[in-house]
Parts: sequence; C-alpha cells; structure tokens
Amino acid sequence: MRKINVFDTTLRDGEQSAGVNLNFEEKMEIAKQLERLGVDIMEAGFPASSKGDFNSVKAIADTIKNCSVTGLARSVHSDIDTAWEALKGSAEPRIHVFIATSPIHMEYKLRMTSNEVVEAAVAAVKRSAAKFPQVQWSAEDASRTELPFLARIIEAVIDAGATVINLPDTVGFTTPHEIGNMFRYVTEHVPNIHKAILSTHNHDDLGMAVANSLAAIQNGAGQVECTMNGIGERAGNAALEEIAVALTIRNDYYKADTGLTLKEIKRTSSLVSKLTGMVVPNNKAVVGLNAFAHESGIHQDGVLKNKETYEIITPELVGVSSNRMVLGKHSGRHAFKDKLVELGFAGNDEQLERIFKAFKDLADKKKDITEDDLFALMTEATLGDAVSYYELESLQVNYGTNNIPTATVTMKIPSQEIIQEAATGSGSVEAIYNTLERIVDAPIVLEDYRIQSISAGRDALAEVFVKVKYDGIESTGRGTAHDVLEASAKAYINAVNRTINRKKYNIERTKHVNI
Ligand code: KIV
Ligand code: ZN
Repeated sequence: MRKINVFDTTLRDGEQSAGVNLNFEEKMEIAKQLERLGVDIMEAGFPASSKGDFNSVKAIADTIKNCSVTGLARSVHSDIDTAWEALKGSAEPRIHVFIATSPIHMEYKLRMTSNEVVEAAVAAVKRSAAKFPQVQWSAEDASRTELPFLARIIEAVIDAGATVINLPDTVGFTTPHEIGNMFRYVTEHVPNIHKAILSTHNHDDLGMAVANSLAAIQNGAGQVECTMNGIGERAGNAALEEIAVALTIRNDYYKADTGLTLKEIKRTSSLVSKLTGMVVPNNKAVVGLNAFAHESGIHQDGVLKNKETYEIITPELVGVSSNRMVLGKHSGRHAFKDKLVELGFAGNDEQLERIFKAFKDLADKKKDITEDDLFALMTEATLGDAVSYYELESLQVNYGTNNIPTATVTMKIPSQEIIQEAATGSGSVEAIYNTLERIVDAPIVLEDYRIQSISAGRDALAEVFVKVKYDGIESTGRGTAHDVLEASAKAYINAVNRTINRKKYNIERTKHVNI
C-alpha cells in the first residue's frame, strides 16, 4: 500500500473562497483540528501577503507540532525571506514557492520569457533551500503548460534543491486522462525526478478536481493537495474528505492510502463550515447531511437485511455519530469536562467555566443536549475571546401581527459605558438591526443573513451567519443562541467586533494580493 501525503490548504487556498474571512483565533482552531485529523502538511497562509497572514502563519507554525506547516511565497526574495521569518519555528520548516509556467501566464501575467521564468524559479528555489529543509515548488497552471518545458523547468528546480514538485490544475481545466498523462510524462522525462515527491493540486471548475487528484495518484503523485469540504478559489479545490475516503474504500483499486484519522473528518468538516460560513450541501459526498440517509423503501429494506446492499461507507468511519443526547441538566462538571475533551476541547479553565455556564443555561431551556450543541457552545466560547468591543447585555423585542416590531437593546460599548437604544423595523430582525446600527458609530449594510438550527427539535439552538459592510469594510459574523432573535443580534455584533478588530491590528484583506 503506497502512503499518500495529505497537504491541506484550507487555510490558504480555502480561505481564498469568496466571502470567507477567518480571523486569527478561527485559523488557529482549524489548524488544531487539522492536526487532530492527521494531515501531513498544512498550508497556513501566505506570509508576505499581509501582516495578519504573517502573524497567523507564525503562530500556527509555532504551535502545531505533529505536522509540517508551510506558507506560500512568490518567486521573489522578499516573499521567501518573510516566509522564513514566519515558519522558522515550526517542527519541520517548509516553503511553498511557485511561479506560472503556461504560455498564457508567462506572456500576459508575468511578461517573462520561458528562459527568464526558469532563471527566476531556480533562483527562488536556491534561496529557499538555503533556509528551509523542505522546499516545495509549484508550476502554476501546469496543466496548460507545454510538457517539454515542464520537464525542463522541473529538472532545473530539483537540481536547485526542490524536494516536492507540485503540478496544479490551477483553472480546473484538465481531465483525469490528461492529468494522468502529465504525471506519467514527467516521471518518464525528468532524469532527477526520483529526488522529489510529485504532488497534485486541483480546482473544481469542471467538477473533476477529486477525479483528477485520484488519477494523478495513480500515475505517480505521492502527495495530494486539498481542502476540507472542497472550499477554495472559484468552484473550490479537491475535497479532502472525498479523496481520503475514496482511497480507503477503494484501496483494492488504488493500492494507496493516507495516514489520516478518518473519524475526525465530520468534526473537521463541521468546524470549517461553521467558521467560514460555507454551508455543506445536504447531498455532499461523505459529509453532507444526507450522505448516509436511505430514503427509498427498497433501499431501507435492503439496508435492514444487510447494510452492505446500499451502504459502501459506514457513518462511523468518518465520525458521523447519531448525535446522541450526551448530557442533561444534572450532569456535573467532571462528566462535562470529559465530554468536552472527547470533542477536542483544549482550552483553559476560564473557557471551561464559561462553556459550563452556557451549558447550564441551555439545559434550563432545552431537554436534551446533544454533541452538536456542545460543539457549538465550545467553539463559541473558545473563539469569543479576542473580539468583544461591543457586548450585548440584553435584548427585548415586541412583535405582534398588527403592531410595528420594536426592539430595545442594552449594550456595553467600547468605553465600558452601558447604553440603551430602541428602534422599529418592518420585521423583528430588522428592528434589532436598526437598533444596533444606532449604537455602533458607523453605517452598516446587511449583505447576507442565514439561519439554521443545530440538531433537531423545537427547542434546538439557532445559528445565524451574517455578512455586513461596516465602516466600508466587509465582514462576517456568527451567533448561536437558544432564541433566533438573540442569535441574530449576536451574529451582527460579532461582525461589527470583527471589523473593529481587523482595523485595530491593521489586518488588511489578503485575497487580492497579485499572485
Ligand atoms: O491553484 C494554484 O495554482 C495554486 C498555486 C499557488 C499552487 O494555488
Ligand atoms: Zn490553487
């Protein structure tokens, strides 16, 4: 069985998804969960793109010890030096340096000749190899690159010190057959290819990212780059969970496997979905809500007689539990802490106390507390720390079918004063948002609002996700509460707090850096 290295790029390519903007604490939380999942390499960001990205890559590199942490760099000296400053404290410092190699990218984007591109790539790899023990080099738009040129530049960068060669299908253009040919060609035409690991990185514009990744693995790739839930630039990247489970379930065919702890897949998927606000479709393979639901009578009958009639993957394999009722109103601190640790809690006593209090409050209102509820309380409490300029003290809403909805909000504002405001709206949520806009001192435009319930039942927790433009800056926010109106208020305030936080630390958006 060949071991395939999993290179996760949820925090870099995944974070480039439109509308996603993770803050420092959220990136760290995802990084720790990726470590639990057992990825071999995680790409934590693009250090030279902004101060914010530099800080989060550095913190993740200094914290994560059970996998290699890497950061992206263009083929320019300053990017490589900045990447070193961010990554030098990691367990196995690794750089991911790239340059485009297709005719269209070289001519129109880089405005460089092919000789100049080879020269720049070799210089970048040499500079990287002088600092980093592991140097990954990527040929951006490899799938549209002329094969003889691809072979020539790969040979040169391996001679210069590259240890991993990544061949991305940057625009999601290729097919499984073609990508297989590319990997075979490179294996057969690059004399020093045995000195490097070949890697595949695929985008999903034509819906073939996972199929292309598997075809590349069949044809020599020893590393696969992917993101959780397949999030990423445009239509996204190859989905980690689909590749990992395909290799496991069909290892009779692929004769390859990953070292992942598959039962962490569902939790990682839920965390990434929650923090990015990117909803996982119900019919999504492996992690969708319906992935293990048998609806047709014939299927249900078959599954009852023998599961394998219609079930090729067991839910337990990827950590999908029945979302059992885990604790109740009378559960003590000890049992509570044990359950949290089982769910991956690694916070401090103060956070534990906060989650315990939130749990007791919820248990007063909700009969059964499920794993999903606990997970929601836990992420809320662990990530709430750094962003609380405005704090909701109380909320009251008057609504009647024949009345104008009115909201009254009491809030602690940054000067620590308590302030109360009221406003009306055409609905309860609008009344709340109009009131909040009066309290925070800049106009807010609500660009997106989504609500979902965590677990089933009338007494389920509500989770609201919003996207707002506050003070000219786009930001997202999340709020969880037993009541939908309170969750709506919390999400809005969270978005405002996140904007202030970003401005305070001068963390500009990283997405539009010209790469
Ligand atoms: O898709 C791509 O080409 C990339 C590179 C920067 C590796 O993400
Ligand atoms: Zn990419």
